[in-house]
Amino acid sequence: MHRPSRTTGRVFLGGQTMSKEIKSKRTTAASIRDMKKTGDKITMLAAYDYSTALKIDKSGIDIILVGDSLGMVILGYDSTLPVTMDDMIHHTKAVSRGARHAMVVGDMPFMSYHRSVDEAVGNAGRFLQEAGAQGIKLEGGREMAGTVRSISSAGIPVMAHLGLTPQAIHTLGGYKVQGRDSETARRMVEDAHILQDAGAFSLVLECVPGPLAGEITDALDIPTIGIGAGVHCDGQVLVVNDMLGIYEGFTPKFVKQYADLDSLLLKAFTHYIDDVKSGTFPGEEHTFL
Ligand code: KIV
Repeated sequence: MHRPSRTTGRVFLGGQTMSKEIKSKRTTAASIRDMKKTGDKITMLAAYDYSTALKIDKSGIDIILVGDSLGMVILGYDSTLPVTMDDMIHHTKAVSRGARHAMVVGDMPFMSYHRSVDEAVGNAGRFLQEAGAQGIKLEGGREMAGTVRSISSAGIPVMAHLGLTPQAIHTLGGYKVQGRDSETARRMVEDAHILQDAGAFSLVLECVPGPLAGEITDALDIPTIGIGAGVHCDGQVLVVNDMLGIYEGFTPKFVKQYADLDSLLLKAFTHYIDDVKSGTFPGEEHTFL
């Protein structure tokens, strides 16, 4: 497939030289929208720090989302609710320093866009102005239409988010699949249209039955990016710690684990402890003479 924003080249990855498309320019909200037209699947990972962002960016990902999932994965909270704007700005700055080609999207945390549209636009602006992101994500349906319109009118690309919206966990009553009955499914399709009309450039669908996600994807001009929403979405997103197997909490059914870093890390840490205790580390090669 011809993609004008990329050049084909060879890249050195993990000790192997592989053929790989290398992006030559930054992915933008406009290029993400174009990918729906060309049928090129969109790839997104949620990540939170500089070193991980550098590697993800090198691999050719389209979007790095600095998700408020950092509350659970990085900060050890039991939900995303305690995450603050300052937490998000801090981590988005780190990811932006590592992401040279991927679009960086900052996730607006709980209560940073609910009190007033003015406050929402101000906080969305901080992601671009202070943290170097190229867009923001927020959760919610029709009730967020005015906020999405004002933020996108300010020139800030907005990624919307429907289905399981973790910031509404106490209203939803748990982390469960959304849109299973015809009424909630119909409402989700309507919400998707309303968010698109309000100016969202893309839509995350989280924990939505595959056929419903496919119906929404077909009905919209903007791309859908699924997590637990089946293969018919225009793109997919996973949390990097989940896909690398470095999170000890609950791993949902929709996660495909591409590595088991937990075991590798444990092995490395215990090996280090053994080496220090036995006097094997540091060796001569690690010692200044
Ligand atoms: O916070 C996050 O990581 C997210 C993704 C799971 C979409 O919202």
